[in-house]
Amino acid sequence: MLTRALRYRFGGYDSAVRLGDEQLLRQNADLRGLVVWDENTASLLAPLHHLPSAVVPPGERTKSIDTVAELLERCVQESLERDSTIVAVGGGVVCDVAALVASLYMRGTRLVLVPTTLLAMVDAALGGKTGVNFSGYKNLVGTFYPAEQIFIVPSVLDTLPQREYLSGLAEVIKTAMLGDPELFELLDQRAEAVLAREPAVLEELILRSVAVKGQIVQQDFTERGGREWLNLGHTFAHALESVAGFEGWTHGEAVAWGIAQALRCGERAGITDPAYAETAIGLLRRYGFRCKIEDVSPHALIDAMQRDKKARGGRVRFVLQRRPGETELRELNPQIVRSVLMGS
Ligand SMILES: NC(=O)c1ccc[n+]([C@@H]2O[C@H](COP(=O)([O-])OP(=O)(O)OC[C@H]3O[C@@H](n4cnc5c(N)ncnc54)[C@H](O)[C@@H]3O)[C@@H](O)[C@H]2O)c1
Repeated sequence: MLTRALRYRFGGYDSAVRLGDEQLLRQNADLRGLVVWDENTASLLAPLHHLPSAVVPPGERTKSIDTVAELLERCVQESLERDSTIVAVGGGVVCDVAALVASLYMRGTRLVLVPTTLLAMVDAALGGKTGVNFSGYKNLVGTFYPAEQIFIVPSVLDTLPQREYLSGLAEVIKTAMLGDPELFELLDQRAEAVLAREPAVLEELILRSVAVKGQIVQQDFTERGGREWLNLGHTFAHALESVAGFEGWTHGEAVAWGIAQALRCGERAGITDPAYAETAIGLLRRYGFRCKIEDVSPHALIDAMQRDKKARGGRVRFVLQRRPGETELRELNPQIVRSVLMGS
């Protein structure tokens, strides 16, 4: 497979993304440091197996200060130095926690991310947000610390369960809505190939999504204006995750539902073009995402949104779209949000 490369400058950091096969890692076999995997990813990517490694349990619970402390302890045991490399091999959970450790140990070691879920390839590994959950809040504690290198090896997705693959696809759909009409069309026209993970289609999905996110983050690394767009659907999604629990919904399923709510709210507020809302919700449905739920209380969802760490004094700002690629941040009349959530 041909190696494809994209380069970014996020804040003061250079970040290179390379997409290819396992050869990519062989060429970098002189990596010295610690590899962090989870139990489901530790058997992947043989070229990294000779390095000292720390295996963490899979799942969102691993994104904790306790894991950070354990991994820092391992860094000490392995006598890592500032120019040693922490290599994360896993989904968003492993990438987020290992990147936080890399940013803290000796005020920053070198960092390489090897994302192994679609979600981490198209979203979590790029852009430098590290973090763990704290005191009941998702990603409350973290740093901005981009990886020097991100190696994307799409063939590792062969073992990824379909539900996790779909979770990543929700973020791909979001990315297409934000900044790539051709990607939107590809998702629309080639759904079967996308769902079957046809290699050429997969590669295109990943590269196009990385390109959109990379450009947005390059313009606004520390989220002061523009990067918030990447949170399209996320205010609703985080509320759903906190009310319904992380077990019932994958992050992507919650995001897909959240995007549908944002479109409906935007439509009612006279912002979103109704035809666009229909088309985008139709696409989400085509991929099997639930766009409507009856079994979660709208009041509990609104309450959770007001408690969200991004709400300012209980006032929530939503990422809304007028049409493809036209995105804005707005407060919404609570009546509108309530009526959309109640399905009326
Ligand atoms: N830093 C960011 O910018 C950013 C952006 C989006 C999401 N996130 C974070 O990412 C996390 C979600 O990431 P995720 O969806 O990748 O979840 P995850 O890391 O929990 O991975 C999902 C599951 O897939 C397993 N898995 C991973 N790769 C596999 C493979 N190749 N084969 C088989 N199983 C595999 C994992 O062990 C896990 O059980 C959340 O914590 C979210 O906050 C961060």
